[in-house]
Amino acid sequence: MLNIVVFVSGGGTNLQALIDSQRKEELGEAHITGVISSSPSAYALVRAEKAGIPTDVISPKQYENTEEFAEALSAQVERYRGDLIVLAGYLVVLPPSFVHAYRGRIINIHPSLIPAFCGKGCYGLRVHEAALARGVRLTGATVHIVDEGTDTGPILLQKAVEVYETDTPEVLQKRVMEQAEWKLLPEAVRLFAEGKGYIK
Ligand code: GRF
Repeated sequence: MLNIVVFVSGGGTNLQALIDSQRKEELGEAHITGVISSSPSAYALVRAEKAGIPTDVISPKQYENTEEFAEALSAQVERYRGDLIVLAGYLVVLPPSFVHAYRGRIINIHPSLIPAFCGKGCYGLRVHEAALARGVRLTGATVHIVDEGTDTGPILLQKAVEVYETDTPEVLQKRVMEQAEWKLLPEAVRLFAEGKGYIK
């Protein structure tokens, strides 16, 4: 069994997609053992609790420095016996020492076709605003391995989504979630469960 720990900060629709896939037995030999939120008010916590998944809130604000924050995260991941960490709408930059300790075992979902519309400051609705401003006809989502940079790690999976002339950032965001993100993230977890991920 592959133990998944999901890191969240907000609404948690990607977490919900994982929970639903697990229920439908579509995650293969993977299951979610814990959810860690950077914010106590994240609705993702409610979703986890409703599904009976243990949760914890670990915010960088609670710690003196990034090392202490990294240690708190590692300790909780170990308590959840995590094999794979899934960043699902996680808005905190992970400490380099944490990334180093879990190299190849942290994945992230980003709502664009990387390397377009990604990097520092490009998250949430801003990604879709940038895509519309540039006039792309195709956007999508990417699941990648997390390294020390922002959205720079090896790409695992991508899915394209059409952009329409009438789109607003909100409409486009919803289409990217429905057509790409909520499918891609469970698929990526399944790949790891089948031993086809990047775990060395
Ligand atoms: C998603 O678009 C995800 O790709 C991005 O932040 C958003 C989070 O949505 N990183 P949710 O919290 O999973 O609903």
